[in-house]
Amino acid sequence: MESIQSNKINLSKKKILLRLDLNVPLKNGKITDTNRIDKIIPTIQFLLKKNSKIIIISHVGRPKGKKVSSLSLKPICEIISKKINEKVSFIDKDLKTLSNKNIFTTEKENIVMLENLRFYEGEEKNNKEFAKKLASFGEIYVNDAFSCSHRSHASVVEIASLLPSFSGIQLNSEINALKKITSQIEKPITCIIGGSKISTKIGVIKNLIKKFDNMVVVGGMANNILKFQGIKIGKSIYEKNFDQIVKEIFSYSQKFNCKILIPEDVIIGKNVDGKGSLKSLDKVEEDEMILDIGPITTEKINKTIDSSKTVLWNGPAGYFENSNFEKGSLEIAKKISENTKKNKIYSVAGGGDTVAIINKYKMMKDFNFVSTAGGAFLEFLEGKVLPGIKALE
Ligand code: 3PG
Repeated sequence: MESIQSNKINLSKKKILLRLDLNVPLKNGKITDTNRIDKIIPTIQFLLKKNSKIIIISHVGRPKGKKVSSLSLKPICEIISKKINEKVSFIDKDLKTLSNKNIFTTEKENIVMLENLRFYEGEEKNNKEFAKKLASFGEIYVNDAFSCSHRSHASVVEIASLLPSFSGIQLNSEINALKKITSQIEKPITCIIGGSKISTKIGVIKNLIKKFDNMVVVGGMANNILKFQGIKIGKSIYEKNFDQIVKEIFSYSQKFNCKILIPEDVIIGKNVDGKGSLKSLDKVEEDEMILDIGPITTEKINKTIDSSKTVLWNGPAGYFENSNFEKGSLEIAKKISENTKKNKIYSVAGGGDTVAIINKYKMMKDFNFVSTAGGAFLEFLEGKVLPGIKALE
């Protein structure tokens, strides 16, 4: 995989098809979270400095091959234009009738954006003809959309077989960070994994347990383990038929010498919107829900972080949406950021809720790397080869 940062490629005056992941949350045409946009600005600026002509291609939402006006990329195009302080021409013309002469209509124009690729059926079908049409607009293809690289779509996979293809700056930094927690690990390494569903993280736990020293399981998914151990969890969330998986996790942890840490004290509530109170694990009543970790558990997690050189965090420790149950997640975020700032650990965090917590506490810059990828982040951690990355190789 060659990067656009490699000095060997001549990018000057070249038409670059730049695949970005501009799949950001839109509410009534307004963008509610610009993290993904902020992260790709350096790539655009890098290409502009190289005098490239940039054609941005992306998707937003899941329009399923139909034109859906609420899922237009236009508002995102306008934000990018503001952020780079340069005109970005938005081309909403149907791609089937669009030709090269409709793009870069003046000499001065350096950057254009095409409409949502998922308005066309060919995109998600990885259709060759659709990829050929896209490829016909540019001379070089750059994938700077790590978070879409688990999708075998035309603008991610097929297109790379049609043009000289390179990885973008953001994709490179994402892969470098993920390598530090999967293949080029500095040990001891700890994973703190939380969130509500154990089923969505099983692949990650099983893959990482082989390489990690500590696996801290918190959040709703820890309830599965507690229940398996015969602890009464009241009306807390848990997933049925997961006992076999939990057994497997423990046998893996013994085999690969990975310590598993689970909550020892908890904050319970009668419902998610209510108040919380501290309880030891043997005192949870029938009508109570476990909604956060308690101070003894937090202290143990902090000590584990202190004894680590690398830390990966994915998933909250409690129902952080209610501030009565956010303390566990806040303490984890604080400890990781403190140790990162002191250069004691290399830290990576990822996942929608985790990014939301880090954002809320304004700690984005205090982690070595915060991934804005969802599915692609988890699939990489599961050890899967992402088709978009394979296509670049
Ligand atoms: C994402 O947001 O994870 C990517 O843009 C992929 O989106 P998708 O899950 O709709 O394919």
